[in-house]
Amino acid sequence: MVAAVRVHKTGGPEVLTYEDVSVPAPGQGQIKVKNHASGVNFIDTYFRMGMYPSPVGLPFVSGNEGAGEVIAVGPGVTDLKAGDRVAYVATLGAYAAERLLPADRAVKLPDKIGYEQAAAMMLKGMTAQYLLRRTFKVEKGNNVLIHAAAGGVGLIACQWANHLGANVIGTVGSKEKAELAKKNGAHHVILYRDEDFVAKVKEITGGKLCDVVYDGVGKATFPASLDCIRPLGMFVSFGSASGQVEAFNINILQTKGSLFATRPTLNHYAAKREDLVRTANDLFDVVASGAVKIPVNQKYPLKDAQKAHRDLEGRNTTGSSILVP
Ligand SMILES: NC(=O)c1ccc[n+]([C@@H]2O[C@H](COP(=O)([O-])OP(=O)(O)OC[C@H]3O[C@@H](n4cnc5c(N)ncnc54)[C@H](OP(=O)(O)O)[C@@H]3O)[C@@H](O)[C@H]2O)c1
Repeated sequence: MVAAVRVHKTGGPEVLTYEDVSVPAPGQGQIKVKNHASGVNFIDTYFRMGMYPSPVGLPFVSGNEGAGEVIAVGPGVTDLKAGDRVAYVATLGAYAAERLLPADRAVKLPDKIGYEQAAAMMLKGMTAQYLLRRTFKVEKGNNVLIHAAAGGVGLIACQWANHLGANVIGTVGSKEKAELAKKNGAHHVILYRDEDFVAKVKEITGGKLCDVVYDGVGKATFPASLDCIRPLGMFVSFGSASGQVEAFNINILQTKGSLFATRPTLNHYAAKREDLVRTANDLFDVVASGAVKIPVNQKYPLKDAQKAHRDLEGRNTTGSSILVP
């Protein structure tokens, strides 16, 4: 038996139950991983509250990201062996001391990247990668707006967009977060709880507006985010930290400037093994180069998963949070 955090019925942070579970031997194509750290992500709260249905039903082990050591491999696994250092993004099962995982969802960790750093960056960093390099390919001189700039995805995306030569504008919920976002690549920071962020974007860009808006906040920033985008620019709605964007009339994209809008998820961008490996390697490279640093700003024992969720949903975290068994 190993320690894990399970959800037996969906709900608030109190449904995260720290208990022992048994992990069988790996089956065909699976590996067993001894987790050294698990990442905490907003998506974990969506599964916990039932906004995203669990693909394995109830109960389920929470968590979608982790890093650790392979301790057993199942039949048919040829490219990994016991002792390999790996990291992964995989739906559910990461808040546990040990877990099974399809081998083709794991990537080998470069020596320079530690387990805790890896658990803090796989989901958030690969998301930043596809958002900035594929959904809208950020280029030098682009005006880029990143909401929740001091968050997990936010701090990585700000650094990376800055590295690509963009003019990075970030929104944040407090002065402390503003300082942090500025230290991590944001050229301009807007306190969107106090300031009109559309007016500020107009002022900062001299009326040109943004080539792209990356919006993981959702309900609270929609539709104002559209007013920050230049004609033919791109609205990327990639999350719902404040609630989901409600149904809207698609004609709004025409009236706001023939805008493009997309609602992407890493699941699709990394569905093929070659895309997963390419995305992870691009992230490893940018981290190894020093251009993007991974701030592990909250570290909790696995048994304190409830607190980790309360802090994340209460807007009391910055950068990445991890759980350690
Ligand atoms: N589509 C994908 O592939 C993908 C992958 C990873 C993450 N995501 C999404 O990206 C977003 C960020 O994820 P993350 O794990 O890095 O979280 P995070 O940004 O560290 O935390 C969420 C942040 O959102 C802001 N926020 C604004 N309104 C909020 C509200 N009502 N309640 C809570 N937070 C609010 C807060 O920052 P301020 O205090 O500064 O406002 C908070 O710190 C989430 O929406 C997540 O679902 C999407």
